[in-house]
Amino acid sequence: MARVLGFLLLLVLFFHIAMASDPSPLQDFCVADPNSQVSVNGFACKNPNLVQANDFYFGGLRTKGNTSNAVGSKVSLVSVEQLPGLNTLGISMARVDYEPWGLNPPHVHTRATELFTVLEGTIEVGFVTSNPENRFITKVLQKGDVFVFPKRLVHFQRNIGNTNALAVSTLSSQNPGIVTIANAVFGSKPDISTDILAKAFQTSDHVVENLQLKF
Ligand SMILES: *[C@@H]1O[C@H](CO)[C@@H](O)[C@H](O)[C@H]1NC(C)=O
Repeated sequence: MARVLGFLLLLVLFFHIAMASDPSPLQDFCVADPNSQVSVNGFACKNPNLVQANDFYFGGLRTKGNTSNAVGSKVSLVSVEQLPGLNTLGISMARVDYEPWGLNPPHVHTRATELFTVLEGTIEVGFVTSNPENRFITKVLQKGDVFVFPKRLVHFQRNIGNTNALAVSTLSSQNPGIVTIANAVFGSKPDISTDILAKAFQTSDHVVENLQLKF
């Protein structure tokens, strides 16, 4: 009996932990105060009496992001850094612009599930499930279509049209965290040893050095 109860308790604890996410707010809002000396998980709250409408506003998405870069896409993130009113609310968003055939390269969000909506163009999306299956799940999306990238899985998007594409993402954290795989692996500071990456990727030091130069 004690064993059964112990097991049930473990189960309850496990599911409690498994459902953890950004904390639920204990007040109407907690506008981030970046100047506070108090260290908390997130940001300390600005005095609510001093809060202004602009603390809940971000006007920086009116214009197209600059896609003149190696991958031909630009993510304009609106997280708690850009919009202090998002603090403790467990949500953020991004505008994503793509040149023709532009790619938002494989990356993960360490803290967020992403809900992706195509506003203009035709976009190929995909994500890969965890080991050992590493199943690749992919789809071509049209304007108006919605796709979800589950939290922490490697995913990408590519514009497969000859015109610009535009998408909007919502993310289930005020600070979703972005790790772009190629940049993290081949562009770390300082470099991961070439021989480590050569063995991990089952290739030569020369190939790894070339990749490290690019990132
Ligand atoms: C876009 O980015 C490129 C590369 O960094 C830069 O040369 C160019 O001036 C930028 N364009 C605009 C309109 O800011």
